[in-house]
Amino acid sequence: MNTPIRLAILGSGNGTNAQQISEYFAGRTDVEVACIIYNIRDAYIAVRAQNLGIESHYFNRADFYENGRVLDYLREKKADWIILAGFLWLVPEAILEAYPNRIINIHPALLPKYGGKGMYGHHVHEAVVAAGEHESGITIHIVDKHYDKGITLFQARCQVLPTDTPDDVAAKIHLLEKEHFPRVIDETIKHS
Ligand code: GAR
Repeated sequence: MNTPIRLAILGSGNGTNAQQISEYFAGRTDVEVACIIYNIRDAYIAVRAQNLGIESHYFNRADFYENGRVLDYLREKKADWIILAGFLWLVPEAILEAYPNRIINIHPALLPKYGGKGMYGHHVHEAVVAAGEHESGITIHIVDKHYDKGITLFQARCQVLPTDTPDDVAAKIHLLEKEHFPRVIDETIKHS
């Protein structure tokens, strides 16, 4: 039997996407979530990882950008792909070089709109509502060295009503993420 494709999930916050991806692949023999890595010490994603029975590890800024500990850990866990699921830092160059075209991100807007530094999570939905947009959505893309710029793999849209608050938009986006992100990961890693 072939060895399973191993995913490392990187997150910074609540971890709903990390949980959905982990549950989607649970019980599969061809793909497995090898670890969940997070960079905010008290992030709820760590609790979710524990509940899921998936090894998780906190790393600080120096571990990412200076001493190579994150890359060492990814290699130790034999991660084949990196999935950014609400991860809010730029991926260090050494990790990009070690995983060329093998890092996937989800962004909660229709890139190239509402992307770039500082555009994450709720800030995106606030900007969308403030601009009076009639639609928003998700973009799943390959990661390169710029924020939110790599090749787009998939987009899905939702309506934004004039009465929608940023929380309302966030709820619609989370539904799209749940529906599409695990599946797009599955298709991408199997066709590479
Ligand atoms: C998600 O909506 C994701 O699209 C977004 O952060 C949220 C994380 O939620 N990512 C970005 O804004 C990246 N620029 P989660 O921690 O519950 O998965």
